[in-house]
Amino acid sequence: MLVALLGATAAQAGEKRDLIIDSDPGADDVVALLLALASPEELNVLAITTVAGNVRLDKTSRNARLAREWAGREEVPVYAGAPKPLVRTPIYAEDIHGREGLPGVTVHEPSKALADGSAVDYLIRTLNNAPPHSITLALLGPETNLALALIQAPEITRGIKEVVIMGGAHFNGGNITPVAEFNMFADPHAAQVVLASGVKLTYLPLDVTHKILTSESRLKQIDALNNQAGKLVSDILNEYIKADMVQYGLPGGPVHDASVIAYLLKPELFSGRQVNVAIDSREGLTFGQTVVDWYDTLKHDKNALWIENGDAQGFFDLLTERLGRLK
Ligand code: RIB
Ligand code: CA
Repeated sequence: MLVALLGATAAQAGEKRDLIIDSDPGADDVVALLLALASPEELNVLAITTVAGNVRLDKTSRNARLAREWAGREEVPVYAGAPKPLVRTPIYAEDIHGREGLPGVTVHEPSKALADGSAVDYLIRTLNNAPPHSITLALLGPETNLALALIQAPEITRGIKEVVIMGGAHFNGGNITPVAEFNMFADPHAAQVVLASGVKLTYLPLDVTHKILTSESRLKQIDALNNQAGKLVSDILNEYIKADMVQYGLPGGPVHDASVIAYLLKPELFSGRQVNVAIDSREGLTFGQTVVDWYDTLKHDKNALWIENGDAQGFFDLLTERLGRLK
């Protein structure tokens, strides 16, 4: 209930949110980008920053440019960021997202180029010049870019309103190891830097994304839009969900990253608890694990809002309605 009170206040007040989306597109990242770019009344997307993750940086950056082209929002700049994690050897998820990082559709080289300069320099420049606590960051991949910006210019926290992260797992268990979720596992050192920065943090972990699953009817309602965006998303999701449905024996697949954007648009769809979160970056079985003190056993600082439930049909109704606004 805390989430509904805190988050809805901002959304209901009609407050338009300045937003930077950091992403490793990625099937579910593209759905999240389309949802955000289809919602200009609530979200002023200042830029998309890209990071290596699901696939290598050249392809995540191309896919981000594709998403903004498909959304008809080519005025939004895309800045390429970190090509690899802070410390660990890079890992990718081509087995899930395909060699091009976008399953189910044919990719092409978008006409609009990347913006000049690195994502890290963009983050530092923009956050340092922003009014105090005015910019929201949505992190949809490994947190390397924000971590590098925080290391180089820790004062940027002054420009940050809050950071909403797709990542982590507690009740659900992991999706890349028994305990670790991919974005955390791909760069736990970066996740620790962000966690230690003291900014307002909200996590949408597998605990909630694995409760917001596709179904035949939900995919049909998207396909029935009869527009390009609906066709792209239903084609992408029909391919993307196969691996998770087999792996977990689920009746449908999660659309992880889009839940972050849905949370920003309609926080009342979600619920969670302010808890202490810690991240394990030690080599070994629990590498990349998010340790969540759900029952406040250790009485440590409650440094994050951990979302563990969501209204699945409400999510898909929102996603469908917004995709319907695109071409
Ligand atoms: O574990 C799911 C996360 O890893 C999502 O962000 C997906 O895009 C992958 O990056
Ligand atoms: Ca992602």
